[in-house]
Amino acid sequence: MTDSIKIPPTRPMTPKYFQDPFPTYQWLRDNAPVYPAPVPYGPKHIWMVTRYNDVKAVLVDPRFSSDPKYAGPALKMFTEMLDAFSGAASMNSTDGADHERIRSVAARAFTTRSAARWREVIASAVEQLLDSHASGERIDLMMSYAYPLPIMVICEVLGIPTADQGQLGRWVHAMSSTEPAERANVPVYVRELREYTRATIAAKRAAPDDRLLTSIITACDEEGQLTHEELVVMVAGFFVAGYDTTANLIANGVLALLDHPDQLGLLIEHPDLASAAVDEILRYTDTATSQWRWTTEAVEVAGVTIPAGETVFPVLGAAHRDPTAFPSPNEFRITRRPNAHIGFGYGVHRCLGAALAKLETEVAVPALFRRFPALRLDCERSEIWYKPAMIIRSPAAVPVIPLH
Ligand code: HEM
Repeated sequence: MTDSIKIPPTRPMTPKYFQDPFPTYQWLRDNAPVYPAPVPYGPKHIWMVTRYNDVKAVLVDPRFSSDPKYAGPALKMFTEMLDAFSGAASMNSTDGADHERIRSVAARAFTTRSAARWREVIASAVEQLLDSHASGERIDLMMSYAYPLPIMVICEVLGIPTADQGQLGRWVHAMSSTEPAERANVPVYVRELREYTRATIAAKRAAPDDRLLTSIITACDEEGQLTHEELVVMVAGFFVAGYDTTANLIANGVLALLDHPDQLGLLIEHPDLASAAVDEILRYTDTATSQWRWTTEAVEVAGVTIPAGETVFPVLGAAHRDPTAFPSPNEFRITRRPNAHIGFGYGVHRCLGAALAKLETEVAVPALFRRFPALRLDCERSEIWYKPAMIIRSPAAVPVIPLH
């Protein structure tokens, strides 16, 4: 770092920043597009990259690794979950040939060919959740709708017994917590989830069915490319990867539509806009705020040299408001076309569950407003508090009154 580095008016990773990161994103794009931001969890900083083209360039450049072995020990906070999974390579913590080897097995089973079946599963889970709420009853949308849905759906898609959903939900919910006491328990939950997954895979081998977990096991056995523990970690990862992400996409989508009644009206009037609406929700709401990468060697980005072994945040949320990529980027328009958002990432690590997560949101958000057309927030908009989460924009609670 040099003395010439400018300081943004609102420092990244502070409570004010988490509440509204967009002015900081703009300042960074304009003044310091590659910025070493101090982090509250250690003596080091992370390099925030905020312009659309630079973010994409980082995500496709192999010198920015997904492997936490390149991370310094001060950043253990970011890697504690991966550490607890250690002993087996996983898709999101490997590069190059290892990544391709693991991903190809999952990709074979995880194709959009299953989308028609997924739609049925999602619609049924959505109806079940909506049926459990009466008009006029105050609920927290997060706990009553957004969080339960992804776990119900992934269990049904993989073929996990309904009776296990509650325990699985408790593990993955605890893993997404930003509370220090809960975070301290994360390695324990990860181990328990891993044990559970190991036992479930054994049960499926003994009694195969027509669901996704059996397909993944079959693909794995036929190709012989994965160790048993790699398979276990991959499957456990599915429970985690789609939980907090999908829940927050749903909640952030509902909030964006309540903030823009004209766009909500348009969506209700034209249900065929649901897919484009979810793309705009992915762009506008900053749900997948950032990814992390580690430099394997010194790399120059936009004229700034990032040394080797540093943590880099390609900030998707900042890229999504870059006016060189999106005209009037601060406007929420569900008809926006083209919409080259990177809300599911970009390059070889692009989200494997993107089609499933998109479909869940496409079904869940319009269905909520169809069932409760007069749904409203039960607090001031400014009272919605966002967790200090560095990679997902996550409202702590969204109190609403569902009304017919
Ligand atoms: C709205 C929901 C979701 C969002 C916003 C999201 C976002 C992302 C992003 C941004 C990445 C890229 C990570 C990187 O570049 O390092 C990613 C990767 C991944 N996602 Fe998702 N995701 C969602 C749901 C899901 C679901 C439902 C699943 C599966 C059940 C899933 C499985 C994965 C996996 C396995 C990867 C790693 C792929 C790889 O490294 O090759 N995600 N996701």
